[in-house]
Amino acid sequence: MKTIIEPFRIKSVEPIYFTTREERDHILQQAFYNPFLIHADQVLIDLLTDSGTSAMSSNQWAGMMQGDESYAGSTSFFHFERTIQDITGLPLVIPTHQGRAAEKILFSLLGGKGKYIVSNTLFDTTRANIEFSGAEGVDLVCEEGKHPSLPAPFKGNMDTVALQKFIQEKGAAHIPLCVITVTNNSGGGQPVSMQNIREVRSICQAHGIPLFIDACRFAENAYFIKQRETGYSDKTIPIIVREMFSYADGCTMSAKKDAFANIGGFLAMHNEVLAQQCRNMLIMTEGFPTYGGLAGRDLEAIAIGLTEVMDEHYLQYRIRSTEYLCNKLIAAGVPVMQPAGGHAIYLDAKEFLPHIPVDQYPGQALVGALYVHGGIRSVEIGSLMFGKYDADKQLIPAQLELVRLAIPRRVYTQSHIDYVSEVIIEVFRDRDRIKGLAIVEEAPMLRHFTAKLKPIQ
Ligand code: F0G
Repeated sequence: MKTIIEPFRIKSVEPIYFTTREERDHILQQAFYNPFLIHADQVLIDLLTDSGTSAMSSNQWAGMMQGDESYAGSTSFFHFERTIQDITGLPLVIPTHQGRAAEKILFSLLGGKGKYIVSNTLFDTTRANIEFSGAEGVDLVCEEGKHPSLPAPFKGNMDTVALQKFIQEKGAAHIPLCVITVTNNSGGGQPVSMQNIREVRSICQAHGIPLFIDACRFAENAYFIKQRETGYSDKTIPIIVREMFSYADGCTMSAKKDAFANIGGFLAMHNEVLAQQCRNMLIMTEGFPTYGGLAGRDLEAIAIGLTEVMDEHYLQYRIRSTEYLCNKLIAAGVPVMQPAGGHAIYLDAKEFLPHIPVDQYPGQALVGALYVHGGIRSVEIGSLMFGKYDADKQLIPAQLELVRLAIPRRVYTQSHIDYVSEVIIEVFRDRDRIKGLAIVEEAPMLRHFTAKLKPIQ
């Protein structure tokens, strides 16, 4: 087979910024060992997130010029609405300025004290919005999903036995919603199978629990289904996507991922009453229901991006590019989550740095080492992001200590990715010299964004 090439050519470029190792040492110290506090022009290859960092197409830019900025009834809204209805089959579409705004509205209405929102794995903002409402978020990912080095085709699946047990224990009346995150970002960008979505749907339906899809990376998930699940290899991506959404009562979406947009999101659903409540809240917090905190031009860019993302040449290149990086690391013995996720690869920091205990945040230490060594920015998805404290202020660690290298869509070329693999492999060979970290300052919620840390000597 020939090399799978980038399915685009480049019309506009932007510079990336070179620094020396000494400069980066100093920058990291100034940023309190937190990549969120580093300025973007001090980063060479930015793999902090695939969110809002996509390169838009010439078609999307053309659409931006056609954006209708009318406050009410904008033609761009109707293009946006029609596109989402066609793709998902969900009739009621509510724009928001990003994914977490959709979550905030949904969980303000459905959450509350004494309630449980069940999921394969909730993303951090989703969990935070649930907890802020007083409800509890419960992750019930399948067993394979808990073992980073164990390859399996659908490690994002929900554990349906655990789901049934949980419903039995707590009672369906206390569970206002089940959320399936596709692909499962916090669990390694791993896909969820159609069979699993179908099974979760039937369990939820039997108990009258609505099912929503957190659809940020729906097209990547659909491509994995096409590649890996029996019966789907001949189906087109739009057909697979439509089937995925056919099992859901609604969805939340961050258009900053699989819509190639730099900002945006939406809620979509069947339930008229809930949609009306959402719109009422939208008007208070985001804007009128035909723009929802977005400019008309953003609505256009999203509508066009949502269609572009289902192109199979694009998805083949996209999924192949993460796999390519993952395979290079596996060949060099680097502990990496297997198989590669759709939008990112995840280093297993516990295995990478066995000399650093979890309460010294091995993931964050590795993030710092990758930055100093090669100017690469990544993010910890471990105990800094998800850790809690018990009554004695002792850390209750996260299940996994991962470092995510998220690949922005259509932004970096194969040589950038080759460079990334070289840096990771060099850091791995020199890993004994990496030191653990201690927190010196932190916020009560979503602390990883702003926490300040220092190395433990
Ligand atoms: N759900 C998932 C699965 C996500 O990955 C994200 C964002 C959101 C919801 C929230 O969407 O950012 O538009 O408010 N993930 C980004 C990331 C931030 O880096 O993984 P948002």
